[in-house]
Amino acid sequence: MFETLKPQPADKILALMQMYRDDPRETKIDLGVGVYKNAEGVTPVMRAIKAAEHKLWEEQTSKSYVGLAGDPAYSDAMIKLILSDSVARGNIAAAATPGGTGAVRQAFELIKMANPGARVFVSNPTWPNHISILNYLNIETVAYRYFDRETCGVDFDGMVADLKTANKGDVVLLHGCCHNPTGANLNMVQWQEVVAILNERGLIPMIDIAYQGFGDGLEEDAQGVRYVAANTPECLIAASCSKNFGIYRERTGLLMAVSQDAGAQALNQGTLAFLNRQNYSFPPDHGARLVSMILNDDALRADWAAELEETRLGMLALRQQLADELQRLTGSDRFGFLAQHRGMFSLLGTSPEMVEKMRADSGIYMVGDSRMNIAGLNTQTVPILAQAIVDAGV
Ligand code: LMR
Repeated sequence: MFETLKPQPADKILALMQMYRDDPRETKIDLGVGVYKNAEGVTPVMRAIKAAEHKLWEEQTSKSYVGLAGDPAYSDAMIKLILSDSVARGNIAAAATPGGTGAVRQAFELIKMANPGARVFVSNPTWPNHISILNYLNIETVAYRYFDRETCGVDFDGMVADLKTANKGDVVLLHGCCHNPTGANLNMVQWQEVVAILNERGLIPMIDIAYQGFGDGLEEDAQGVRYVAANTPECLIAASCSKNFGIYRERTGLLMAVSQDAGAQALNQGTLAFLNRQNYSFPPDHGARLVSMILNDDALRADWAAELEETRLGMLALRQQLADELQRLTGSDRFGFLAQHRGMFSLLGTSPEMVEKMRADSGIYMVGDSRMNIAGLNTQTVPILAQAIVDAGV
C-alpha cells in the first residue's frame, strides 16, 4: 500500500523554518514563520499564561474528557472577546478546535457538508494553507483580487469586481484583521461595502481571525468581524489563540457558526460536535482552559492585555523604524506602506528571485512571496534589513 503514496509538496513556510535552522551564518535574520519574537529573538511564554498554568496545576483534579465541543466556558469567553455583544449568544454555535488551522479545516468540512457545490473565494494572496486544505478537500477555489502591487495596499475595486462574480451560496473567505500575508487591511467603510455585496448576492462569509490584538488593538481588530456577524444572515468564524496568547504548540482555536435565526443554533452546535468527533473526538483542553481562566479573571486579563499591547506597540515601532530607514536610504516614500500595514506581516511585493537573492547574499529569510514577519526584527536588525532590501535592488 505505502508504495502507492506520492511525495507531497513541502509547506513553503515550514520548509523555510528548517532552512533557517540549517544556515550556519550568525548574521542570519528569520522573517519567516508567523511566530512572535521579542527583541532577544525569544518567543516568550506570556506572564498571564504562566500564572494560569501554575493555578491550573494546583487546582486541576482530573484530566478526564471534557466534551466534544470543548469547555463551554472557553467558548463563552472567546465569543465575548471576538464578538462582544454584536450577536446574541443564543445565535452562536461554537466548538473548540486544535488551533486556528483546526477551526479552518472544520469550517471547510462544514461547508462541504452543507453545500457540496459551494466555491470558496480566497484573497489573492492568502495564507497558503487555506488553499492547500481546500484543494485537499476537493473544494473549488476562486481567487479574488486583494493586493495592489503598486501601492502595497488593498485593491478594493478589484476585490469588489471579483466578489460580484460569485454565485449564491458561494463562500467568501476574509481575514478578520492583520491580513496574512500582505498586512494590508480593509477599513470599516470597506467592510460595510463587502457586507452589502455578500447580502446582495447571497454569499456566505467565512472569517479567519488569527491575530486579534496585533493590529490596532483588541477591540479595534474585531470591528470588521463584529460587523459581518451582526449584518449577514449566516457566517463562519475561525479563531486562533496561538498568537495573541502565545500558546502556539497548545493548539487552541475556536470555530463559530453564527446565524440570525436562533432556531438554527442547536443543529449547528450538533454539527460542530459531530465534525470534532469524526476528526479527533475531543479537542485539546490545556490551552483552552488557560485562555478561559485568563479572560475570566480581572487581574490575569489585565496583565495579558497589557503584555499583548506591548507586543503590538513593539511591532508598530519596528514598522516605523524600517519605513524611516528605507526612506533615508532611498530618498523616497515608496516603502511608507510598511508603517501603514498592520499585524505581524508585510508583503514587500517583490519577486521570488529578489527574495532568494536577499537570502543568499544577506541571510535574510522571508517567505518566497516576499512576506516578512516584522516580529522577527529588532532595532539592531532593522538597518541591516533595510540595507539588504536596497542592495538587492528591490
Ligand atoms: C504563518 O502563516 O506563518 C503561521 O500561521 C504559521 C503557519 O502555520 O503557517
